[in-house]
Amino acid sequence: VFMIGIFDSGIGGLGVAIQIRKKAPRADLVYFGDLANMPYGPRKTEELFKLTLNAMRFLKSRGATQFVAACNSLSVAVIAPLADLFETPKTRVIEMVAPTVSAVCERTSGKILIVATLATVRSGIYKRAFTQQGASVDVIALPELAEAIEHQACEKELEAIIAPAVQKAINVRAELLVFGCTQFPFARSVFLHSFEKRGYEIELFDPSEAVADEV
Ligand code: DGL
Repeated sequence: VFMIGIFDSGIGGLGVAIQIRKKAPRADLVYFGDLANMPYGPRKTEELFKLTLNAMRFLKSRGATQFVAACNSLSVAVIAPLADLFETPKTRVIEMVAPTVSAVCERTSGKILIVATLATVRSGIYKRAFTQQGASVDVIALPELAEAIEHQACEKELEAIIAPAVQKAINVRAELLVFGCTQFPFARSVFLHSFEKRGYEIELFDPSEAVADEV
């Protein structure tokens, strides 16, 4: 029996689930969006660790045998010892950061800007990984964006929230903007319009497909 358990704080991971579904049409999937505890972005590592364990326990109780942490903010907590707690020999937790970094490095050698939650930016996880690859990267937190997307904020509101990232991308002359939070691709058109308005050309990269490939 093989069942993929996918989890996130809310709807963000559904973007990853959709990509997994496209690549594995017959796989059994079970999804957990932790709406009771969203947002994850402002939380500390220990809390994120506990929330990861809770999500995995819940998904396991629903039959999951493999796990996908479809939430960048959890990556810092998704470390080897965590998988060891779920000691079934084949248990593996796939997280967002490693597949994202390899996909981005394959795509460009130009300047990269990562937009993410506070937890992800504070952890330094992307900065470290990209620097190790010799890539030129900047990171910016958009602390309100995930929740605003979850609550279906209007375009105008979203535009104001993402404005600092748009400005930063222009300032650092980024060629590629990476959605380092799984909710953010749902605001892709808002990013697109904001850059268009500024007359700035940039590629927007959603790592969900790269993560699905890994899965
Ligand atoms: N979906 C999560 C991520 O990718 C975080 C959203 C939240 O703050 O809850 O980082």
